[in-house]
Amino acid sequence: MASGGGAFLCSTLLSDVHLLQHDMDQSAQLACILLAVLCATLYLRIRFDTLRTIPTIGPSAPVLSYIAAYKFLRNAQEVLQEGYNKHKVFKVAMLDRWIVVVSGAKMNEELRRLPDEAMSFIDAADEITQSKYTIAPDVQKHPIHVKVIKEHLTRNLAPLLPDIAEEVDYSFQELIPAKQDEWLAVPAYKTMSEVIARASNRVFVGISLCRNPQYLEIASSFAAEVLRGCTVMGLMPNFLKPIIGPHLPWSRRAIKRMAPHVIPIIEQRQRQLEAHGEDWTGKPNDLLMWLVEEANHAGLANNMNLLVQSILTANFVAVHTSSITFTHALYHLAANSQYTEILRDEVESIIQQDGWTKIALGKMWKLDSFLKESQRVNGTSHISVMRIALKDVVLSDGTMIPAGTFVAAAATSTHLDEENYENAEIFNPFRFSDKRLEDGEKNKHQYVSTSSEYIGFGHGKHACPGRFFAANELKVMLAHIVLNYDVMFENEGKKPDNIFVATTVLPAPDAKVLFRKRSL
Ligand code: HEM
Ligand SMILES: *[C@@H]1O[C@H](CO)[C@@H](O)[C@H](O)[C@H]1NC(C)=O
Repeated sequence: MASGGGAFLCSTLLSDVHLLQHDMDQSAQLACILLAVLCATLYLRIRFDTLRTIPTIGPSAPVLSYIAAYKFLRNAQEVLQEGYNKHKVFKVAMLDRWIVVVSGAKMNEELRRLPDEAMSFIDAADEITQSKYTIAPDVQKHPIHVKVIKEHLTRNLAPLLPDIAEEVDYSFQELIPAKQDEWLAVPAYKTMSEVIARASNRVFVGISLCRNPQYLEIASSFAAEVLRGCTVMGLMPNFLKPIIGPHLPWSRRAIKRMAPHVIPIIEQRQRQLEAHGEDWTGKPNDLLMWLVEEANHAGLANNMNLLVQSILTANFVAVHTSSITFTHALYHLAANSQYTEILRDEVESIIQQDGWTKIALGKMWKLDSFLKESQRVNGTSHISVMRIALKDVVLSDGTMIPAGTFVAAAATSTHLDEENYENAEIFNPFRFSDKRLEDGEKNKHQYVSTSSEYIGFGHGKHACPGRFFAANELKVMLAHIVLNYDVMFENEGKKPDNIFVATTVLPAPDAKVLFRKRSL
């Protein structure tokens, strides 16, 4: 499986036509759109018959279902919430498919427990992203990055934490040179994305490449290139995908541009492995090294392309999701600056005692809770725990899901459900740290814990394997901000409105947060 965490983002941008504007002229765009309308209408119609018995939210007559799909694109949460309130299982029209959605914590649990042979995450992610065309064909065949993220990256978080903290510090100093006596307006999404790209790549490829502007530009723009491919693929009927797919230029171009940055390093490391075996003094401890070793073990040592693609794919799954999530959190802080002092007290006393270590971060319950609560209220996607049925499946309420159906859980509705959270509509940053103080609840409400009530990282066997890394990185960033700056919005403003594209929840992309160096 190549696509991973970015898959659900991709799914929702399928028809975000403006992404295409730089690459296609208008008549080609129009032809594409018309073709898409036709095919989608036909496709939705045919599939509808097999899904007849599952209640539909919105109209389902031929052309009307296309209008419903358009409404879903603009206002997915309203549609999902209506289904969530009325049914345990319902379906909604997207442009090129129906999604069957389950409601409530109990159904979330049931969905995640279905075995891979019945409900496949990998097939869902691959189908949605068309990863062999839009991401990287070798990575789809050999998803070594997933294994390396799940095992090596997570296991090495403690030794790598000082590096992450150093890179975060270095990036903030350069990108946010705020002074004590005046407020500096910072374009938040852009700046936080850059910090995240640098800090993540410090761990992916090491200090020299992570500060190389050309490398960073290729790695960071890859997500947009993939989404562009997803959009085009999503507009065409299935039989055209294998014909057009191999000619998509974007991801191939990125792979080609990336190759000269990483291949010499890979070759050098292969030579050292040959000379010294698997242990030598000064052997790098980064994702690239683990990937090289993983490729060697799998008999893929000579597949340079696979390694280049794996680095790009790691960037795709890591940077976009983390940037969205962190920007939401920063907006919450800027809109509620009364919490800065509380977080600062916690972080400062712990850092003074322990320094920047993984253990120290583990003690920062309020900081952890702040990020988790921000993501509960404003996650990256309205759906999660996505699957494709590989055979007919009958759910506990009697609903029959035919093979081939795309199924998901309603993330936002789950997170705003009063059954799961008291005053669910309210942003209460210390909701989870307060719960952890109760008897026997200490470990259930950490940022990285998934549950049937908290599915922002998915849930079950395929829950995001990068979440341990993401939580550490984002905690270092938020801790760094409260220790070093005051933040707010201009005129003490509120959190700016999100942008919703189908099921994706994007923080306002151009909003500025005011930073001032903290006065001691
Ligand atoms: C706050 C940031 C992040 C969020 C919100 C997030 C969210 C998700 C979600 C929802 C899934 C799919 C689970 C499902 O549908 O059941 C996923 C999968 C995945 N994520 Fe993340 N993710 C984040 C950060 C990262 C990072 C930093 C990495 C890598 C270092 C990563 C790597 C992956 C991979 C490889 C998969 C696919 C897993 C598989 O193939 O089984 N993610 N993520
Ligand atoms: C997320 O944040 C915005 C404000 O930025 C808020 O209006 C919205 O209701 C929040 N929740 C969801 C589920 O989008």
